Amino acid sequence: MANLRKLCRKLDRLLTELGAGVVAGPYAWPAAYRQRVPQRVTILTTTRLVLTTWTRADAPELHQVHSDPETMRYVRSGRPETLDETESLIDSYMREQSERGWTKWRLADLQGRIVGRAGFGPHGDGRELGYTIRRDMWGKGMATEIASALVDRHRADAVKNEASHLRAYVAVANAPSSRVLEKVGLACVGTLDHDGTPCYLYRLPE
Ligand SMILES: CC(C)(COP(=O)(O)OP(=O)(O)OC[C@H]1O[C@@H](n2cnc3c(N)ncnc32)[C@H](O)[C@@H]1OP(=O)(O)O)[C@@H](O)C(=O)NCCC(=O)NCCS
Repeated sequence: MANLRKLCRKLDRLLTELGAGVVAGPYAWPAAYRQRVPQRVTILTTTRLVLTTWTRADAPELHQVHSDPETMRYVRSGRPETLDETESLIDSYMREQSERGWTKWRLADLQGRIVGRAGFGPHGDGRELGYTIRRDMWGKGMATEIASALVDRHRADAVKNEASHLRAYVAVANAPSSRVLEKVGLACVGTLDHDGTPCYLYRLPE
């Protein structure tokens, strides 16, 4: 391990001389090397948005989204999250991606700035659609744009038999999210209690 660290430092110095940054930590890949290797894989793009896989370095920017109480009111535990929790979440997204090839991905604008996250969670032998948009981007049609692309993606995957159904749960009080689901073709099929929160269950007609 000591040799590996030494090697990393040496490589970093070398690459830094060629015009890049500094080492982030003793076990990290040299920063200069990281800058040269594309770490995110693009899943899909829309007119204004790009969905990619995550890297651990994305935790602080996702944390900006997940530390906002208003944004988190109807998602996950219903409260703002700590940076540690966001890091664990990104780890789980990266694990899901490598194990089954789909997860909730990093959502960015075409300049690469984070817009939120969107994608699929497991739901029986199918999937649950999910999205969270950075608060200052609400009301611009971002959720509708990415949800629509994900519905198309799900239909294409389902043809290959990777996933059979698509569902979504929405807190009854979360009217904007219900509206998004209806605009992209999901239908409300009932209500249920989700950890004490009354929710609508939506389904993509099969
Ligand atoms: C819900 C959320 C994803 C919506 O994102 P968005 O990018 O603002 O959504 P869009 O702009 O694509 O569409 C919102 C729609 O809801 C409508 N809307 C907004 N407020 C509304 C309200 N109080 N009642 C009914 N409809 C409302 C908008 O008018 C728009 O519909 P329209 O295009 O027909 O006018 C966003 O607010 C968010 O990230 N919230 C926090 C996380 C969350 O709740 N995620 C969903 C968990 S199920």
